[in-house]
Amino acid sequence: MGTVDNSSLVGGAIERRLEHSKVPPVDHAFVLAPFRRPGDDAELASLIEGRPLHVEIGFGRPHHLCDLAASHPEATVLGFEIKRRWCRDAARRSVSEGLTNLRVIEGDARAYIERFFEADSVDAYHVLFPDPWWKRRHHKRRVFRADFLEVMHRTLAPGGYLIARTDVPAYADFIDELLLAHPGFELELTPPFDDPIFEALPRSHREKKCLGLGIPVTRFRFNKLTA
Ligand SMILES: C[S@@+](CC[C@H](N)C(=O)[O-])C[C@H]1O[C@@H](n2cnc3c(N)ncnc32)[C@H](O)[C@@H]1O
Repeated sequence: MGTVDNSSLVGGAIERRLEHSKVPPVDHAFVLAPFRRPGDDAELASLIEGRPLHVEIGFGRPHHLCDLAASHPEATVLGFEIKRRWCRDAARRSVSEGLTNLRVIEGDARAYIERFFEADSVDAYHVLFPDPWWKRRHHKRRVFRADFLEVMHRTLAPGGYLIARTDVPAYADFIDELLLAHPGFELELTPPFDDPIFEALPRSHREKKCLGLGIPVTRFRFNKLTA
């Protein structure tokens, strides 16, 4: 099992990042913050038992997260985001759109998933346009790292899958190499822009922007292989 190094968390220790946020804490029934409100960990644990379970990491502006919850009313959808303003926006939209199957978790997804998620508990991970963290000393903050990939693999249920999209060619190559080197994943499809399967998928804010500007996007779906 991989171990996510605490020193790699975005902003250092998660509690410190939250203390320094310029946006006040979001106290909303749809936003869980287990490191800030210890009582929230029991609710998070009970949500992780809900199936099917979809998890989005770094949802940013919550276009894709809310569309995912709306198009999968049978599923529990958990969105992780380190920026409070996007947590607040997602919570507001989930209420106004009646998305009772959606919850937002404020903080570095890697810390929570490693600490709280059971093996075989997640049906799908969605990582859309992850920050490439260009500087070498910041590479440890990437969502795509061998240690966290191991955590995602362990927590994916049999038949589960990982969706990744990016408009950064070098990061697409990096994801491709990292995943192909892992014996527990197989690449299923990399559809072109006009592929009907892709057309049916929700799009993130960044993705809509890329499509509007004609910026090419690389899309991956990696399936968990079971022995
Ligand atoms: C480039 S933005 C993309 C946002 C959105 N997925 C989209 O496609 O429009 C990356 C987002 O991931 C968030 N993020 C980065 N690392 C994260 C982590 N470890 N856990 C949770 N959120 C993270 C950032 O705050 C940012 O909002």
